[in-house]
Amino acid sequence: MQITDKVSLSVQDGIGYVTIDNPPVNALGQAVRQGIVGGIQAAERDPEVRIVVIRAEGRTFPAGADITEFGKTPLEPFLPDVCQTIEDCFKPVIAAVHGTALGGGFEIALSAHYRIADARAKLGLPEINLGLLPGASGTQRMPRITGAAPALDLMLTGAPISAAKAMEIGVIDEIAEGELDDAATAYARDLLARGAPRRPTSERAEGFADMAAYDAEIASRRAKLEKTAKGQLSPFAIVDCVEAAAKLPFAEGMKKERAAFMECLASDQSKGMIHAFFAERQTAKIPEAAEATPRPLDKLAVIGGGTMGAGIAVAIMDAGLPVVMIERDQESLDRGRANVEKVYARNVAKGRITQANMDNIMGRYSGSTDYGVLADVDLVIEAVFEEMGVKKAVFAQLDTAMKPGAVIATNTSYLDIDEIAASISRPEDVIGLHFFSPANIMKLLEIVVPAKVTAEVVVTAFELARRLRKIPVRAGVCDGFIGNRILAVYRTAADHMMEDGASPYEIDAAIREFGYPMGPYQVSDLAGGDIGWATRKRKAATRDPNARYVEIADRICENGWFGQKTERGYYIYADGSRDGQEDPAVLKIIEDERARKGITPRSFTTEEIQNRYFSAMVNEGCNVLAEGIALRPLDIDVTLLYGYGFPRWRGGPMKWADMQGLDVILNRIREYAKEDALFWRPSPVLVKLVDEGRNFDDLNKGK
Ligand code: 3HC
Ligand code: NAI
Repeated sequence: MQITDKVSLSVQDGIGYVTIDNPPVNALGQAVRQGIVGGIQAAERDPEVRIVVIRAEGRTFPAGADITEFGKTPLEPFLPDVCQTIEDCFKPVIAAVHGTALGGGFEIALSAHYRIADARAKLGLPEINLGLLPGASGTQRMPRITGAAPALDLMLTGAPISAAKAMEIGVIDEIAEGELDDAATAYARDLLARGAPRRPTSERAEGFADMAAYDAEIASRRAKLEKTAKGQLSPFAIVDCVEAAAKLPFAEGMKKERAAFMECLASDQSKGMIHAFFAERQTAKIPEAAEATPRPLDKLAVIGGGTMGAGIAVAIMDAGLPVVMIERDQESLDRGRANVEKVYARNVAKGRITQANMDNIMGRYSGSTDYGVLADVDLVIEAVFEEMGVKKAVFAQLDTAMKPGAVIATNTSYLDIDEIAASISRPEDVIGLHFFSPANIMKLLEIVVPAKVTAEVVVTAFELARRLRKIPVRAGVCDGFIGNRILAVYRTAADHMMEDGASPYEIDAAIREFGYPMGPYQVSDLAGGDIGWATRKRKAATRDPNARYVEIADRICENGWFGQKTERGYYIYADGSRDGQEDPAVLKIIEDERARKGITPRSFTTEEIQNRYFSAMVNEGCNVLAEGIALRPLDIDVTLLYGYGFPRWRGGPMKWADMQGLDVILNRIREYAKEDALFWRPSPVLVKLVDEGRNFDDLNKGK
């Protein structure tokens, strides 16, 4: 019997199967919610039904509430009421879980009286990743079964657990041997045969058996969050609600959970994170996808085994693919292999993998100094020194060695990829694959599309990103592509503030306060000041002589202070420590530079530092859009979120700007332009959007 177009009820041998069918992930939209309620009620009415199984078609049990409905007028029945209807069913209810039972999906399962899972199922409460908390009884029902620690682990990390782990902590009663549907039917028959009663989760209390441990867990999580999640709403709300589960009657706890959920849902934090969720899926949607299909990607290679080449090799091997590494001589190749082995040896030492795993993975690695071994390779990524001459020499060899149709990619950070492509006989096969360091960890992959490349090569690069589990962003060719180009501008804004009176320590603190893990000068010390110094020297001749140039970084580098690796940069790192201390000698250099330029230092508030830094970021983001370097504002958001540490709960710089109001940002820029009209030129895109009363979200939607 069809209940709604998304849910049906079928009855066989006394078992009523309520089946959810809402592809792709069975999200709990209105028609599903209504269908579940209708299905349960129909099963209650049907005298033939003695027990109910809730199951889902397709690839997964519901993966949560329908996120696209958030922000719209909520439609009844609400999810907590759906859960209550399930629990209140006067016949026993089993949830049969497969795929990824997440968020509201897991809460549906928790509201059933019994749960059976496919052995490969994953269960989780990832609402925190959307700036939310479980809002359909998860904070109240789960702790009643498991106590505080396992519930908080799930809710505060957002990471799913396996069916086996779920069974261990008590939220799954059975793991299916073989097919889930058959096992669920057998389980239902067994419960009937045993006369097993309804078992409402809201009436369970085994999770409260040791209240001293429960209270201690709550206190310790709160203290930890003070350090790791300051300023964020949902993590603290989760702890409050889990505490309430043990302190208040169920109905009161539910009210508290609902109020906290609605408060989080209305916050900018959740709007930012929901934007990030959809944005990181949108970036793979590119115009070329309609025109072409990917080429094969069975055998890959990297040229260079340094920081990036080795990291990229690890990323490839981690995806289960074989990789060939080419280096310029045997000694460099040995170093390259050692760089790769170091990553896995560390994982073995930390107990993340076994030595046998490592040996198995290293079986996918081969190295050579002879380009001849590249004859059957489908895609190569060049990661040699950042010098045009060296890159062109390598590309000439690749042109000779690679088979026709092979994709030839460069990991260059700044060099002109059109020029590299034009230097070989097949520019149509050349593309930029800009990984971020460490390449096996960082999720972002800028896919840089030069003028002559074919659509087929572009979609092949996106397919590679998918296989490597990277988040790809399509970028155009320019100095620094999307990320590094924008970085150069907001870093300059920071340097201006430093020269005008803010210390690097104040600037770093203001940026951390905004939500970054580190400030820009800490990042510079981590990456090594020598890299930026070399770039500045290279670009000195072409720099606009009218542009303001701050020399403080050069003075610091002239002392050989390149950051952590030299134990001194903007900070002092005593005895190789990673915690930098403020350095009076650096402050003296800054004072001297100000005096040399006749600048009287002034003070900056945290807010002003943030406003200038992020206004510069947004303005350059607009220029990047104007030139077509980024397809949409959301591509810029994803780049800054995944490559540069922008806090996810703020959605990315363009989303943040939308929430501030673009007119507010433009007015700030116009105010700053009174001091330095060359640096603070409002981008025409920003001016136009403000004039037309539109924002970046409109551009994202193609409006
Ligand atoms: N609501 C609406 N759409 C959703 C969705 C959801 N909960 N989850 C996924 N989708 C959409 C995606 O946007 C995507 O759409 P597209 O094809 O148009 O881009 C499509 O479903 C497929 O998703 P993925 O590409 O992500 O597919 P994967 O197979 O890689 O991953 C997944 C599947 C693990 C389920 C992943 O989509 C995911 O993590 N989803 C979000 C889960 C989540 O956050 N659930 C909690 C929601 S909040 C909640 O439940 C509140 C409650 O407590 C009241
Ligand atoms: P690196 O100096 O650590 O490694 C370069 C490697 O290339 C060395 O091992 C060297 O022996 C090898 N090499 C040089 N000439 C070669 C040749 N002709 N044939 C084969 N191998 C050769 O440099 P890193 O940091 O790995 O950078 C490589 C590229 O990646 C550069 O273009 C850089 O701009 C880019 N990049 C670097 C990032 C970083 O954070 N380090 C981030 C993103 C891109």
